[in-house]
Amino acid sequence: MVEQLDSLALEFKEKIKNLKGEAEVLNLKSEFLGKKGKVSEILKGLRNCTPEERKVVGPKANKLKDDIGDLVSLKLQEFELVQINQKLEENKIDLNNRESFWFNKNKSGGIHPRSMIQREIEDVFLSMGFEVLDGPHIEDEFHNFEALNIPGDHPARDMQDTFWFNDPDSPEGKKHLLRTHTSTIQVRGMRERTPPFRFIAPGTVFRCERTDASHEMVFNQLEGMMVGENISVGNLIYFMKTLLKEIFKRDTEVRLRPGFFPFVEPGFELDIQCLICSGKGCSVCKKTGWVELLPCGIVHPNVLKSGGIDPEKYNGFAFGLGLDRLVMMRYGIDDIRHLNSGDLRFNTQFSAF
Ligand code: DAH
Repeated sequence: MVEQLDSLALEFKEKIKNLKGEAEVLNLKSEFLGKKGKVSEILKGLRNCTPEERKVVGPKANKLKDDIGDLVSLKLQEFELVQINQKLEENKIDLNNRESFWFNKNKSGGIHPRSMIQREIEDVFLSMGFEVLDGPHIEDEFHNFEALNIPGDHPARDMQDTFWFNDPDSPEGKKHLLRTHTSTIQVRGMRERTPPFRFIAPGTVFRCERTDASHEMVFNQLEGMMVGENISVGNLIYFMKTLLKEIFKRDTEVRLRPGFFPFVEPGFELDIQCLICSGKGCSVCKKTGWVELLPCGIVHPNVLKSGGIDPEKYNGFAFGLGLDRLVMMRYGIDDIRHLNSGDLRFNTQFSAF
């Protein structure tokens, strides 16, 4: 039996050398070590051995099993390495040779549809005399809530589920958070300017919410603000209609409904007629014919005061466009999660470099 085991060991070593793939290696393993495999067949003979013989054959058989196991792992590692090297070779980037970049090989990458729309909106507003502002993602309670007429105990704080930083020792108003809306930039913008002024501020915002086809924890808004003397709801509607016309390349029906936001009074929800069904009613507009797109209103005097502006002398309007929703409407995208997926199959549908 000892000789049989020795020759099995040799046979295995010989056979595994020439194998070409993982499946072949695993087959060979079970041919030797499986229940009905060659090693088991030989070990059946143990029954007829003397105790002395068993003392020799037993350990020998165990060693053979271990050796076979080791050879199998080694061979599989070898295959894996070959595969890795092959992949590295395929994706090799020669920095001196533009032709070898992945996006050239695949012909194109794409500009993200949100970036395209954002740029278009920026152009529209720049042409109407607005500035484009930016602001920090990490904010404090003051800019995100208090200055926007949402004091600490105000129930409106619960309208937006907030990601708070763990800094319990910060003084009241100074606790840090990830901004829940771009309205924070209203406060920063006002404090750095004297009226009249007008600006927009696109940016990413964060909410601790469950995600689904129309909700993301990380999404994008575009804030707008105009402050001066005698600004009216008529001014607000004019700018919003101009924006929508430029983006959708046609006249869009809009309607204003009252909406509550602590930082505006009166506050509105501006709806557009659903562009997917032209107002007839479909799944996107939930059969109403209208889509909520643009909350807005006349800036609350308390907000002007937080921005260092005299509400007796000046007033203004503000709006907070849901940028992702606008992108979805424009391109008929039915799930907001595509936008942050980073999936090139999605991105490359919209434009080529
Ligand atoms: N900040 C609000 C939100 O995220 C949206 C908003 C509403 C912004 C009304 C505004 C506004 O500027 O006037 O829900």
